[in-house]
Amino acid sequence: IPPILRTLPELRATTRPWQLSGARIGVVPTMGALHDGHLSLVAAAKTVCDHVIVTIFVNPKQFNSEEDLKNYPRTEDEDARKLERFGIDAIYCPDGPQIYPDGFATTVSVAGLTDVMDGVMRPGHFDGVATVVTKLFTQTSATDAFFGEKDYQQLQVVTRLARDLDIPLTVHGCPTIREIDGLAMSSRNLLLSDRARTRAPALYEEMEAVAEGLRDGQPFAELHATALSRLDAAGFTKVEYLDLRAADDLSTLKSPTRPARLFAAAWLAGVRLIDNIAV
Ligand code: PAJ
Repeated sequence: IPPILRTLPELRATTRPWQLSGARIGVVPTMGALHDGHLSLVAAAKTVCDHVIVTIFVNPKQFNSEEDLKNYPRTEDEDARKLERFGIDAIYCPDGPQIYPDGFATTVSVAGLTDVMDGVMRPGHFDGVATVVTKLFTQTSATDAFFGEKDYQQLQVVTRLARDLDIPLTVHGCPTIREIDGLAMSSRNLLLSDRARTRAPALYEEMEAVAEGLRDGQPFAELHATALSRLDAAGFTKVEYLDLRAADDLSTLKSPTRPARLFAAAWLAGVRLIDNIAV
């Protein structure tokens, strides 16, 4: 089992020799409850980097409710065991004050990209993400960071902040890993009841149906309406958005005239699911 570091001084002592030797240091930021989606990022980091650190920190600043924060799955021992076979160098599990010491007063906020979708539905969420990710980048001195396309808007936000703040690090986006039935892997899937779990793949199925319709030249408005009524029939209580957007700046599109993605957020049995696919 890789060494578990809990303080910033321990982390710095570990990374300093790597930095001095000019090694490539990869970081994979996570909130734990690791699944094959997370592990695919670890595998990608291992192929590119000399040293790899996985971070596990359930970041209170990016949650919108105490309830959601409290219910978020925490499985540290199991996570450490799952990481064993990858030969990573360390797991960084900072305690709260390592990230937010007394008097912490700085927020990193990315404008524009956060004016849509989860930026609107989850006020303050991306400020929390951007702030913690900036800290994890600087604390680990990583040269490379690995994020999933599963959270595509987050991937864009993180890429932007690294550029804007001159953090000397390359952000790598990795494809979404899915269950056999198509459901995008997510730590929150653990919160689904058995019944809800059997219905959850409908989100991806309806998104694929919309994408296929778009490829056939059908109008997005009609495909959108059909998908909403089918999701309702499948037991989804609310679709927050089902948007067609440009892959680079996330502006809305009426048809896929440039590289585009379909984005969705929807509630099933009290659990919020998100997904996105290329069109
Ligand atoms: P978390 O939800 O734990 O996800 C950690 C990383 O795993 C993110 O980059 C996410 O996009 C990626 N990931 C999750 N599910 C995936 C899947 N099915 N396929 C591929 N990659 C997947 O995202 C966060 O944590 C946090 O916001 C964090 C960046 C750690 C900041 O707190």
